[in-house]
Amino acid sequence: MSAQRARLGVLISGGGSNLQALLDAAGQADFPAEVACVVSNMPTAYGLERARKAGVRAEVVDHKGFASKADFEAALHGVLADAGVQWVCLAGFMRLVSADFLKHFPGRVLNIHPSLLPAFPGLHAQRQALERGVKVAGCTVHFVDAGTDTGPIIAQAAVPVLAQDDEASLSARILAEEHRLYPLAVRLAVTGAVTLDGMRTRVDAIVTGDGAALRSPGAPK
Ligand code: GRF
Repeated sequence: MSAQRARLGVLISGGGSNLQALLDAAGQADFPAEVACVVSNMPTAYGLERARKAGVRAEVVDHKGFASKADFEAALHGVLADAGVQWVCLAGFMRLVSADFLKHFPGRVLNIHPSLLPAFPGLHAQRQALERGVKVAGCTVHFVDAGTDTGPIIAQAAVPVLAQDDEASLSARILAEEHRLYPLAVRLAVTGAVTLDGMRTRVDAIVTGDGAALRSPGAPK
């Protein structure tokens, strides 16, 4: 008999391509988590459609319909609790969650951010990276704390910034890595392979790869 899979609640605000990556991963029999519920604060988010197509419960909790953040988060928690959610994945969710909300899921809220944190937290991370002139960019999955993109880092992936890049091309290159990284990080988190150690995490897993560096720019032709 296979072990019980962790029940994920995925919070979105938009297109939900990271949600799709998690749905696709959860479609694999050996993935240790399933998507129990998707909640969007935006009624028009395409990610809701992705959830329905996958046969996953999809709900709207529109922040505009609540008098306070506390009321909004209480409604959000109500839906997640009703769906039996154990872990929460923020995937392009454009609201900051409060310390009170996090208390419902201690150490069990993850976020994906399109930069190599702690560089470039907040909005328009890819634009920030281009404006600062970095040569390597990437994405990060981290545990969520009450700050903005400040929580302990679980996993990161790096991509080169190319001379001809604009915000769209760099974002696309990073997004392709996000789709690989988020399922990996969820796997590590829900299986207990990654644990919190203050601001750091310990990853108890076999490290693959050859340790090669990503150099950007590469050697001249
Ligand atoms: C991603 O770049 C994610 O890192 C950021 O918002 C974007 C969401 O994209 N937080 P999608 O909705 O998953 O396609």
